[in-house]
Amino acid sequence: LQQTLILLKPDAVQRRLCGKILGRLEDRGLKIVALKMLKVTKELAAQHYAEHVKKPFYPQLEEFITSGPVVSLIVEGPGAVQVVRDMMGKTNCRESAPGTIRGDYGLSRQVNLIHGSDSPESAQKEIAIYFRPEEILSYDSTLAEWVCAGDEK
Ligand code: GTP
Ligand code: MG
Repeated sequence: LQQTLILLKPDAVQRRLCGKILGRLEDRGLKIVALKMLKVTKELAAQHYAEHVKKPFYPQLEEFITSGPVVSLIVEGPGAVQVVRDMMGKTNCRESAPGTIRGDYGLSRQVNLIHGSDSPESAQKEIAIYFRPEEILSYDSTLAEWVCAGDEK
């Protein structure tokens, strides 16, 4: 099954929205296989957002993402990468459809509550940045047959 890396950004923690966002992911049937809280350092931010380091908005993005604790987690499910991207909405919350996480809880382009890996390749890279292998759990869930029985992996 596919795994993807999610961050609940500092605004989600500060606004006490983590429970609601985690609830949405769980309600969708995604399985949490790793979860922790941490503060993103400047070094970690540059590694994670390597593709944006040279962009004009990077200093602001760095300040935001290092400004307070984040919740980092890995969820697993069929097509998890795209499923989570669709649940997030567009980068700019203001352009995100109602029903998406950003479209329901945000108004900003930068302060947009959640990160999700944008491809299976990014997911593998980002999972390795945030988690050691022993922090990622493998366990059976009886719900699996109701969530994704008969699907391709
Ligand atoms: P992530 O899941 O966080 O990677 O968001 P994304 O894939 O929807 O957007 P992208 O990778 O293009 O940008 C990464 C993050 O940088 C965004 O989530 C925003 O927090 C921030 N960001 C993107 N574009 C801008 C911008 O033009 N200005 C500012 N200030 N921040 C931006
Ligand atoms: Mg991105």
